[in-house]
Amino acid sequence: MIILKVGGSAISNKITGESHISEVADILCEELPKDEKLIIVVGAGYIGHKIAKENLLFKIDNNQNKWALLRYKVNENAQYLIGKLIDAGYAPIEMSTSSLLKLNNNSIESFDYKLVESYANLGFIPVLHSDAPINISGGISILSGDVIASELALKLNADLLIFGTDVDGIINKQKLISKISKSDAMKIEYWDNKDLTGGMKNKIIEVKRLKNTAIRIINIRKKGMLSNAIKRLEVGTFIE
Ligand SMILES: Nc1ncnc2c1ncn2[C@@H]1O[C@H](COP(=O)(O)OP(=O)(O)O)[C@@H](O)[C@H]1O
Ligand SMILES: [Mg+2]
Repeated sequence: MIILKVGGSAISNKITGESHISEVADILCEELPKDEKLIIVVGAGYIGHKIAKENLLFKIDNNQNKWALLRYKVNENAQYLIGKLIDAGYAPIEMSTSSLLKLNNNSIESFDYKLVESYANLGFIPVLHSDAPINISGGISILSGDVIASELALKLNADLLIFGTDVDGIINKQKLISKISKSDAMKIEYWDNKDLTGGMKNKIIEVKRLKNTAIRIINIRKKGMLSNAIKRLEVGTFIE
């Protein structure tokens, strides 16, 4: 089982808003396997971050319209990729994280990941996206795609988790790190790219709990990196 996170940074420039979703869709249609179980999690990207920041979406406060807009826009990106993948002969199906999962403060209270697995077992590609599910401690909360992807990798014992981003992997002193342990990855210097849910550092924190999953961070906009990662070849940064 492969879990692929298609990062918000990959589909759009979070600062300028420039969209790259069509080039990412082309790469997915070209490079995704047709003979392996796969789940895709799509990040929020520019529009999700913009709506959340402009409307200070931390709690429900007569701003339900903005929360609804946020959910609509992140879903729209996922739908776009689903449409392209269907045209290319794949069988992606949308699954709403908000309908499968509840939060309790910052942790996952419940997640019907078995339902996601059932579709993957039937030959579909479940496509989830970063979302804003119910938080039983009050209201709804932003949930990053990194958390969803890592949780699925853990619970479904995925053998590979790929983070597709706009950088070639973890960069240290301007050089790409090809392999790093989870604990050493925590010590790297991460710059602030204004990502609402913790950026690259958050990915490292999230994957710390994975024991049996190979983790790779790649640039999903560079042709060939995704297919090489899927072939388990050395590409991007491998986190062991
Ligand atoms: N040391 C680092 N190596 C690589 N990328 C880094 C580093 N520190 C910060 N980043 C930033 O992390 C970003 C990827 O994290 P994030 O924006 O959360 O991606 P995504 O939207 O794909 O989840 C990169 O675009 C890069 O700007
Ligand atoms: Mg992010």
